[in-house]
Amino acid sequence: MHKVDTQLKIGIIGLGRIGQVHLAALKTIKNVEVVALSDISLDHVKKTAEEYQIPHFYTDYHNILRRLDIDAVWICSPTSHHFTQVMEALGNNKYVFCEKPLDADKDKIQTIIDSYPDINHRLMVGFNRRFDPDFANAKTTLKKIGKPVIIKITSRDPFPPSAEYSRQSGGIYNDMSIHDLDMARFISESEAEQIIAIGSRNFTEDTDTTLITIKFKNGVICNIDNSRKASYGYDQRLEILGDQGMISVENKKISHTRFYFENAIESSVLEPFFLERYKDSYIEEAKAFITSIKEKKEFPSTAEDALKASLLADACAQSLEQQKLIFL
Ligand SMILES: NC(=O)c1ccc[n+]([C@@H]2O[C@H](COP(=O)([O-])OP(=O)(O)OC[C@H]3O[C@@H](n4cnc5c(N)ncnc54)[C@H](O)[C@@H]3O)[C@@H](O)[C@H]2O)c1
Repeated sequence: MHKVDTQLKIGIIGLGRIGQVHLAALKTIKNVEVVALSDISLDHVKKTAEEYQIPHFYTDYHNILRRLDIDAVWICSPTSHHFTQVMEALGNNKYVFCEKPLDADKDKIQTIIDSYPDINHRLMVGFNRRFDPDFANAKTTLKKIGKPVIIKITSRDPFPPSAEYSRQSGGIYNDMSIHDLDMARFISESEAEQIIAIGSRNFTEDTDTTLITIKFKNGVICNIDNSRKASYGYDQRLEILGDQGMISVENKKISHTRFYFENAIESSVLEPFFLERYKDSYIEEAKAFITSIKEKKEFPSTAEDALKASLLADACAQSLEQQKLIFL
């Protein structure tokens, strides 16, 4: 595998919403250097390179893959480009961080896995919520509540994505619910045996509102509540009921100041979206990537995790279409 000096050199492909977040996160970390950026929009990539003082920028991402000084590539392009770019980056002997979903087609994820027996040492998938300090704390302190029995995950976006984004996203289950399906596996520490999804179209041309119920092999039952629109902000909550207590991760607000009046109590609104709500998680995720390389460990969220979440996403779509419980 590629040998890394003390300073890990990184190239980023795709400088849209999440690419900008990762660039800002990487700039806060010691021992890494972002040396090149790529985006199909020249104006955009040039402006970003100037703003962050990145020495090289390209409209063709192959220029990043060809650079021998680059150790790792961050793939932040639209989902429909992930498979090709991941395979090319791995073929060029780069460590790869790829945004979720690894691909909307599970067969392509399987191809990535089959192509490299040591894939868990080469590729990490961006399930950033595992690295959110509050969710991570819930996971590490699970034992305090005894045996977990119910997991409730609420994940609602403030507004739907653009039609262009949706077209390349793989649909609500592979694009949005995939985070929560991964979180359900992560917290339950089990695999699903039954899943059912119902959904409706309220704000867009596609399914944009859904409830998913999963029964895991260890008996844990999970409910996921997703909406592409929540008029009051980015609603992200987690609740775990155990036989000896409950863990609850509440929403993050912009401010914690509360005002009390005779007829009302006023408090701040929620963090507006993922850039703000999960800011710390992207930094922790990047640090975990770097530590895994330095310590020659498997990455903490792998292509196999991506495949398992993708199988659940497909089962949700199947359940919705066939209006029935799916046995896995
Ligand atoms: N983990 C998270 O919290 C999170 C949040 C948002 C998006 N995502 C994922 O990140 C990916 C990108 O989403 P986004 O919201 O940033 O999309 P976006 O549309 O805002 O940005 C995509 C960028 O990629 C560029 N691009 C397109 N084709 C390219 C190519 N061939 N080479 C280089 N650049 C190219 C576009 O010009 C655009 O700037 C998606 O897979 C999405 O699922 C993850």
